[in-house]
Amino acid sequence: MKGIILAGGNGSRLYPLTKVTNKHLLPVYDKPMIYYPLQTLIDGGITEIMIVSGKGHAGDFLELLGSGSEFGIRITYEIQDEAGGIAQALGLAERWTRKEDVAVILGDNIFQDNIRKNVEAFDGGAKIFLKEVTDPHRFGVAEIDGNQVINIEEKPKDPKSNNAVTGLYIYDGRVFDSIKTLAPSGRGELEITDVNNSYIRRGSMEYAILEGFWSDAGTFDSLLRASLMVQETRDI
Ligand code: DAU
Repeated sequence: MKGIILAGGNGSRLYPLTKVTNKHLLPVYDKPMIYYPLQTLIDGGITEIMIVSGKGHAGDFLELLGSGSEFGIRITYEIQDEAGGIAQALGLAERWTRKEDVAVILGDNIFQDNIRKNVEAFDGGAKIFLKEVTDPHRFGVAEIDGNQVINIEEKPKDPKSNNAVTGLYIYDGRVFDSIKTLAPSGRGELEITDVNNSYIRRGSMEYAILEGFWSDAGTFDSLLRASLMVQETRDI
């Protein structure tokens, strides 16, 4: 399985921290933010990783991570010219993946769980990872019926559950066909939630509940929380 870190976007919610650098290079406790999703993929047993970033500061990612040899992996870089959405950023990796299975992680998501078992057991379709939160309206929210996900709503005003869809997804090669059918959402982006709902409609979506700590780090409060959680847990 290949791994993809999506590190595009404008980081506008963290302005002025992001005025002269990229959100994913900001510190989360004692490391640059992007180290955490990178380590999650590496701990999952993945050694071929693509980083998709915006144009601004792309060279800084290269400077920081190089070929990946320091981590025992191979890193490839791709540029997303405009922040057209998470699904658009993922679409840029199509050729590189050669339609192999992919583990996709958002560059501002910090996970404590080890995903290796899920990577090894993946058998086609798609898999999402859920975490109960107190502020579900900030996220994609999954509606669950037994062991089935029946729908995901992106940032609902009136969430149907507290199960946030975290920024970690495993897909088979059909994900790129799904992305090609998408239209931009109300916020003008190709949404990963629409990709996930297309797998749900086809009956090929599974889910797992995360056991450990999870946070995004894309707002002042979540960035602070992520740093504090890393400090407290220290094993990540
Ligand atoms: O954090 C999990 C949430 O991430 C999910 O629950 C939502 O379903 C999903 O849509 C996403 O929500 P956000 O609105 O918080 O995503 P945001 O725009 O902050 O982007 C998160 C990361 O995705 C960002 O750090 C880099 C990457 N990204 C984002 C955009 C818009 C790109 O690579 N390219 C993009 O164009």
